Amino acid sequence: MLVDSFEVQSPNVEYTDHHIISTYEYASTKLDRAPDGKWVVKPTKSTYQFRVDRRVPKLGVMLVGWGGNNGATLTAGILANKHGITWMTKDGLKKPNFYGSLTQSATVRVGNYEGEEVYAPFKALLPMVEPVDIVLGGWDISGMNLAEAMERSKVLDWTLQEQLVPYMRDVVPLPGIYDPDFVAANQEERADNVIKGSKHEQVEAVRHQIRAFKETNSLDKVVVLWTANTERFAQVVEGLNDTADNLMASIDRNEAEIAPSTLYAVACVLEGVPFVNGSPQNTFVPGMIDLAVKHNVLIGGDDFKSGQTKLKSVLVDFLVGAGIKPTSIVSYNHLGNNDGLNLSAPQTFRSKEISKSNVVDDMVSSNSILYAPGEHPDHVVVIKYVPYVGDSKRAMDEYTSEIFMGGRNTLVIHNTCEDSLLAAPIILDLVLLAELITRINLKKDDEAAFHGLHPIAVLLSYLTKAPLVPYGTPVVNALAKQRAMLENILRACVGLAPDSQMLLEFKS
Ligand code: NAI
Repeated sequence: MLVDSFEVQSPNVEYTDHHIISTYEYASTKLDRAPDGKWVVKPTKSTYQFRVDRRVPKLGVMLVGWGGNNGATLTAGILANKHGITWMTKDGLKKPNFYGSLTQSATVRVGNYEGEEVYAPFKALLPMVEPVDIVLGGWDISGMNLAEAMERSKVLDWTLQEQLVPYMRDVVPLPGIYDPDFVAANQEERADNVIKGSKHEQVEAVRHQIRAFKETNSLDKVVVLWTANTERFAQVVEGLNDTADNLMASIDRNEAEIAPSTLYAVACVLEGVPFVNGSPQNTFVPGMIDLAVKHNVLIGGDDFKSGQTKLKSVLVDFLVGAGIKPTSIVSYNHLGNNDGLNLSAPQTFRSKEISKSNVVDDMVSSNSILYAPGEHPDHVVVIKYVPYVGDSKRAMDEYTSEIFMGGRNTLVIHNTCEDSLLAAPIILDLVLLAELITRINLKKDDEAAFHGLHPIAVLLSYLTKAPLVPYGTPVVNALAKQRAMLENILRACVGLAPDSQMLLEFKS
């Protein structure tokens, strides 16, 4: 059974006009070693207060790479939902939806009513911006209008595109920061809509564009998300980009090694605007992270977790969690969209390879019954550009595992899907959740004042391949754990315990 919304009645929760305030008892453990070397586990309890601003802002979302496949597809999808546009295909009439979006199309269990399990939409946990209320904007180094960009991307059915053209043909992305040194040479012919000037001037131009967008559309808040081309990794060099001050000084000196994505991110942080990175490159060099932390502005990333890696972060978690030992994971991809073209250059491919490679690390290190220290499954990732398949990416994975008594199990998975139809709902979740996170405040035990969550938005991990986390904190890649972290923290904000799955009420 699905209920649209609910309100929690508890002495620990207070709903005021502006806030939801909850007192939450967090149960965890503290580990110690006794003098005889034995491990001692002590259950701990601490009290947190959460305070969430209930007022949903008028939100603007600016996409870097707006005219790309993801940008154009997301825009079209939101418009189709907003205007209730239906379209005919050979399979019959299609209606717009937000399938693939955790916030819009997934549910959470709220309890049991007269023997029946009751669920609510994920977005019913806390007040969130409605996708159709988002004001979209953004940049692209290609000056094509959004209707033509949608046609260029070859993702949506033609009869849907025809109906969307009137809404999109007059929409042209803002000029963006372009540096051919950071993307594949084959991208050059797209770049006809660029911001000229030094790096300092480019940052200032982006800051001005963000402010103007906010003012023109009377927005309360803006979130920026990078869905532009994958860049090569920037070198991290002492004195260049290792601290916030060095990064800012390097921008002023117009140093070559500062990537466009970092320049956008710097502009956002200086404007107090959250910035999410949907591509694999190291936009968040140490100096950039330092800057975000100093200014206390949300950053999150990296690299949308949409298809092959999402499945990997489920499958390997299941295998290792079942006591089975994956020993070889080989992933082939071929795709024919502009992302594939850009990734055909070795430097940009390398960014993707790194981002896709570390995804099983936490699962492997969680089980040293199976893996000796330092032991790791062979893990290879191949990506090839095959124009004919367009946006319909093929991912083929072979997982080989050791099973009971020297046996071997091989799983082969073939995954075919329009890449942008997977990525677009994830972009939506990222911006909606990034906005929500900025409305959550908390304080622990005897802390005097409420403060925000750490500016590095670990709660977005479910949606990213290589989650950015604060230095020295655990990286969780397993999808179920990532989802549980997000859901349980949102539940805590309304005074609900994590869903323990114990169902004790039915067991006595
Ligand atoms: P795309 O190549 O169709 O779109 C990228 C757009 O960015 C292009 O229109 C390009 O002109 C623009 N652009 C490039 N550099 C720019 C800059 N510096 N400033 C402003 N605009 C710039 O690629 P697609 O398929 O939309 O993917 C976008 C990104 O998302 C890629 O980096 C891809 O690796 C990443 N990604 C995509 C996934 C998916 O589609 N399922 C999954 C994971 C990551």
